[in-house]
Amino acid sequence: MKKEITFLGIETSCDETAAAVIRENKTETAEVLSNVVSSQIKEHEVYGGVVPELAARAHMENIEYIVDKALRDSKVSLEEIDGIAATAGPGLIVCLTVGLNIGKSIAAFSKKPFLGINHLEGHALSPGLETKIEFPYLLLLISGGHSQYLIVKDVNQYEQLGTTIDDALGEAFDKTAKMLGLGFPGGPAVEKFSKFGDKNLFKLPEPIINRAGCNLSFAGLKTAVLRESKKISNDKLKYSLAASFQFTINKILYKKTKIAIKEFKNKTKKKEVKLVVAGGVAANKSIRENLEILSKEVNCKIFYPDLKFCGDNAAMIAWAGIKRFKKKLIDDMDVSAKSRWPLDINAPYMKGPGLKL
Ligand SMILES: Nc1ncnc2c1ncn2[C@@H]1O[C@H](COP(=O)(O)OP(=O)(O)OP(=O)(O)O)[C@@H](O)[C@H]1O
Ligand SMILES: [Mg+2]
Repeated sequence: MKKEITFLGIETSCDETAAAVIRENKTETAEVLSNVVSSQIKEHEVYGGVVPELAARAHMENIEYIVDKALRDSKVSLEEIDGIAATAGPGLIVCLTVGLNIGKSIAAFSKKPFLGINHLEGHALSPGLETKIEFPYLLLLISGGHSQYLIVKDVNQYEQLGTTIDDALGEAFDKTAKMLGLGFPGGPAVEKFSKFGDKNLFKLPEPIINRAGCNLSFAGLKTAVLRESKKISNDKLKYSLAASFQFTINKILYKKTKIAIKEFKNKTKKKEVKLVVAGGVAANKSIRENLEILSKEVNCKIFYPDLKFCGDNAAMIAWAGIKRFKKKLIDDMDVSAKSRWPLDINAPYMKGPGLKL
């Protein structure tokens, strides 16, 4: 009988210190034996954003306890674990180094294989924790640092169809919340207060909506929110601006996802499309409902990770570790932290002056 594989995952790329023990079961989905996430929201709240040095210090203070708790909660001994996976990038170098070093130390001490994981591959494969999804599928990755459409051809095989040319979607949510004084982290705050506003009250721009394929842009929308926010005199208008921002995002994602689906069909020659929406922003219910409508219209199947696997977590890192381990994609101990690490290394860099769309 084939042995079930069990991995310890560690995640410290930004402001969550996380560790998890995951086992792949016979249906090739995951048994989550433990999933510990310690968020640093309190530390960064007063600054309205993540402060790298504070985040790194908090990771250092917490990491041993979090890893130990994940192992204890799982009731699995270190001897029973087949490998250690830790996020190696992209992210804040000072933060990544904390998880990477402890992962390497545990691997060296226990003589287990070590894997340095691309955090974005963690997000990309995360719905597979609960549902087996055959490759290829179309991925909409919407998080704090990235907004991309990719073809996921297999583990370790990605083709980028489109990306943001300026801000990431999570960043746009966070900045909107900050401008409107709605709180931190911004995404959940904008979603919450939008319910009390009129989404049709403000007409906001939809940047590059009719050009540049399925590339995305949110900077112009953010500037428009800033301009309107200065004219606002009461809470009702504030909530309406948040609602109008979220509504505009949904119009953009609807149109661009439709284009991405078409490109996916052309490139893969597949008639049926599976769309996976992952990353922190995939927790947003209005975005889920909006893309659900689109998926019915164009007859594509849509998958989301469970809410606890949308934001940063180590379950998805352990899971990517298991998937890579099965393909013998094991790393050396000299794997280092990377601040930038695209899933498709051949994709053009889409930011900065001189960009032609
Ligand atoms: N309900 C929500 N609606 C909109 N945005 C949300 C929601 N919940 C979380 N977010 C946003 O998701 C982002 C965090 O996602 P995630 O943890 O995946 O990002 P990250 O790890 O910082 O970036 P990356 O994964 O690109 O490296 C934040 O910008 C947050 O505001
Ligand atoms: Mg993330």
